Amino acid sequence: MKTELLTAQDVDRAAELLRAGGLVGIPTETVYGLGANGLSAMAVRGIFQAKGRPQDNPLILHIPDAAWLTNYCEDIPDTAWRLADRFWPGPLTMVLQCKKRTPEELEELKKGPICSMTHFDRHIIPDVVTAGLDTVGIRCPDHSLCRAIIQRAGVPVAAPSGNTSGRPSPTTAQHMLKDMGGKIDAIVDGGPCQVGVESTIVDLTCTPPRLLRPGGIPLEELRSVLTEIEVDPVVIRPIGEGEQPRAPGMKYRHYAPKAPITVVKGPPERSAAYILAHLSNTYWDGVICFDEYTHLYQSHPVEQLGAARDRWEQARRLFNALRAMDEAGVKHIWAQCPDTEGMGLAVVNRLDKAAGFRIVEV
Ligand code: TXA
Ligand code: MG
Repeated sequence: MKTELLTAQDVDRAAELLRAGGLVGIPTETVYGLGANGLSAMAVRGIFQAKGRPQDNPLILHIPDAAWLTNYCEDIPDTAWRLADRFWPGPLTMVLQCKKRTPEELEELKKGPICSMTHFDRHIIPDVVTAGLDTVGIRCPDHSLCRAIIQRAGVPVAAPSGNTSGRPSPTTAQHMLKDMGGKIDAIVDGGPCQVGVESTIVDLTCTPPRLLRPGGIPLEELRSVLTEIEVDPVVIRPIGEGEQPRAPGMKYRHYAPKAPITVVKGPPERSAAYILAHLSNTYWDGVICFDEYTHLYQSHPVEQLGAARDRWEQARRLFNALRAMDEAGVKHIWAQCPDTEGMGLAVVNRLDKAAGFRIVEV
């Protein structure tokens, strides 16, 4: 299959492909997504195939406007509306109760992958989107081109991050082309992603609400709307053997470049010194570090994450840095790591997972 490269001028084409059941790479403010018509089971199955994604890992539905929530969800708590008011469009995914189907709709679904207008107009979400759960993750992205495409398609767009399963998420159209070229119908180039890590996921079907994945909206900001919020333990530690995480995706290896990573935590000057002391003197040790320390590692492949205090910039550059290490062909990666304040929590979470929790505290 030849993958079409589309631009902001091609909203109609992207929307047409989506409606017709195609797979389209879409830009969002967090990372690029691999989109399909969220009301078509057949189209959504294609996502799992192209990514090599495990079937039990549900997808996020993308909508252009909070008003669409009532099409797909029920028992929507007041907190959901307040969060939408404050953070949408934006990098927040809410897990809500999926609308129950009427017996008539269940019959309709049994007929299989019908791609007719009438089927779409009934807003029935197929099981393949939610992996059979009775909840659904929904978000309204802060990227006007992305929203225009969904609006024009007239259907919610199911989209995981547009990487091959297990690899770092794509933050440019070129990253996505690398993973998905030849496997999907099109990629819409909407420029580099402004946030750089995925959305924050909050489960609102439990009391108190629970943070399932840190992301583009810092925990501290969520607390300005939610009086109480619990942080799921797997945000900061590895999954235990046989443990069932609340976000099924959390149990899989993630964000990983080809080479193993060692994450070095602690005050920046100490982690920088630790890496310098332990770096082998071959070219094959790469370093991901804060801008202030780049000069220490002159004879090695280095990727700058941003200034030590600038956690937003670190989030923006992280996945690109991991991919660049692959390009350099290094055999081992040392990474400096921020603390968990603000956007730091999302950066730490992605680095920990990319490293399979191979962590040194200094
Ligand atoms: O920023 C983002 O969220 C990006 C862009 C494309 O929107 N999307 C994204 O999707 O990161 P994905 O599939 O890579 O990650 C979605 C995560 C998975 O860990 C999945 O298990 C979890 O969300 N998830 C989806 N639906 C869920 C549900 N109903 N309950 C719990 N977790 C859910
Ligand atoms: Mg992903």
